[in-house]
Amino acid sequence: MKGTITRCAKELVESTFGADQWLAILEDAKVDEETRHRLAYPTTDIDDSMAKDILASTAKVLGLTAEQVADAFGEHWCCVYAPKIYSSIITRFDSAREMILGMDKIHVQMTATIKNARPPRFDYQWQDDRTLIVTYKSFRGMIDIYRGLVLGVGKLFNEPLSARKLDNTQVEIVFG
Ligand code: HEM
Repeated sequence: MKGTITRCAKELVESTFGADQWLAILEDAKVDEETRHRLAYPTTDIDDSMAKDILASTAKVLGLTAEQVADAFGEHWCCVYAPKIYSSIITRFDSAREMILGMDKIHVQMTATIKNARPPRFDYQWQDDRTLIVTYKSFRGMIDIYRGLVLGVGKLFNEPLSARKLDNTQVEIVFG
């Protein structure tokens, strides 16, 4: 997985909990020295299992659930990290609906020229005018992170929305 994910996690932990907690997480996840130097570069390749271990150790070291980590990650990505690093993408959207619906295309476009990228894909199905069922398609199985990012999009646009995991591939989103 691309280092942009671990870079965002590092930024979140260091700014909210302190640099020493980030080091404790790297220790707990048994991250080797070489990877420690690379994980803050957005386009570097971080082993998927290593990236997932880092998220799991974040929960363990900070005493949070995996879901709480995913929610904090999603909020930091959408409200702090992406507006700095990917502002040209964020400004294309005027609402949470638009941004969530735009993410399938964005991931394909944005990773098309990045070597080794295997972005998640999303299918969208409206149940009624407020209720969207998203099918999350990724071999990585990171649906909790997906749900956290959806909630982060709601916070970015200051729109009330709820997101409920239906199973390991589907999330139900209810807008305002
Ligand atoms: C500015 C906006 C965004 C950009 C530029 C972006 C870009 C990326 C990139 C480069 C990756 C790594 C892909 C790889 O290693 O092959 C990734 C992963 C991911 N992105 Fe985004 N993303 C954005 C916003 C979002 C949002 C808003 C969501 C959900 C609503 C989302 C869902 C995910 C998930 C769940 C992953 C984890 C990898 C996986 O599940 O396979 N992203 N994104």
